[in-house]
Amino acid sequence: MANSTVPEQFYTPSAKNIGSQKREEGEENYEETYQKHRELMLILPKAKGWMTEYLLQYQGFWLKPMDELKGVLLLQNHFKPRPSDIFLATFPKCGTTWLKALVFATMHRFSFDFSNHPLLNTGPHGCIPFLEVHIYKDYPVTNVELLASPRLFATHLAYHMFPENVISSGCKFVYLCREPKDVLISKWYFMAKLRPKELPPLSLREAFELFCEGVSDYGPFWDQVLVYWKASLESPDKVLFLKYEDLRREPSMFLKRLAEFMGQPFSLEEEEKGVVQEILKLCSFENLTSLEVNKTGVHRFSPEIVVNNRDFFRKGQIGDWESHLTVEMKEKLDRITEQKFMGSGLTLGTSS
Ligand code: A3P
Repeated sequence: MANSTVPEQFYTPSAKNIGSQKREEGEENYEETYQKHRELMLILPKAKGWMTEYLLQYQGFWLKPMDELKGVLLLQNHFKPRPSDIFLATFPKCGTTWLKALVFATMHRFSFDFSNHPLLNTGPHGCIPFLEVHIYKDYPVTNVELLASPRLFATHLAYHMFPENVISSGCKFVYLCREPKDVLISKWYFMAKLRPKELPPLSLREAFELFCEGVSDYGPFWDQVLVYWKASLESPDKVLFLKYEDLRREPSMFLKRLAEFMGQPFSLEEEEKGVVQEILKLCSFENLTSLEVNKTGVHRFSPEIVVNNRDFFRKGQIGDWESHLTVEMKEKLDRITEQKFMGSGLTLGTSS
């Protein structure tokens, strides 16, 4: 397994040590939240899980009972936002790994040389933590306060699950979504790898039915997309709405838009020197999959959830669903998408 070389202030082993001390000091503050978590686990609606036995529905979305639900409660009750925080929000399998790499490389482009970049020996998930799962599981909430500004967090949570103090603080959200048929296939492959052997395999047909009903980790897919879409229309300076397919087709244009949104626009000089292209090359599917860390490394989201880095990369294509879904499945999913997005002005798979 390759070692992380991401500097401490970004994502930090030393913060972990300081944090364990803070955890003891602040433990009682969390007890009420942990108690609420225990109570909710008993009463929330349940449905079949993709990589856990079941999921729980909280505030309209399906979450894993342990890490994710607890993470949301900690976020809603204890998180102290900073106006400079940037959240990279995605529904799982919409390109989170790629977005993490692009944002990390863009935000920290003045700190590293491309020939000796942390992304060459740290997987993208080792560069930017997931707010609701990773940081709360491994570190107490106070540790987040030890990270240097501007803090970068990834999240799979819907916009309205963030507490008012985050929404009103000036924090920014970059939302990346993807065509749902490709999301379904990508998610089914990924979850099958993580599904414990004790549980019976989840067939594509079953996964399809669950997905259509909105039941999958962080689902319903459409509802999450819509809350970010509406937020991006209401507050375009705070929520940037991007599509995987657009990023695939016109990467430099969208990377420049992303950098500008984050308050770090590329200068003319940088553009002339080819910095945009360097970042795109560094973060490309081809480059990332060729790196040893992404071939043999692992990422520990929690003691129970350990993912081989190579599983974050599969085909990276648009339209792979065509090799998996029947005509009837395609039509059903398209119909749901059309109905859900009706009147919103949003289409997926193409430019808006
Ligand atoms: P496929 O399974 O369709 O290949 P996430 O990062 O949200 O888990 O999404 C994973 C999807 O993004 C996978 O899609 C994966 O192959 C694709 N992906 C990962 N890194 C990528 C990159 N650098 N460029 C384009 N796509 C990428």
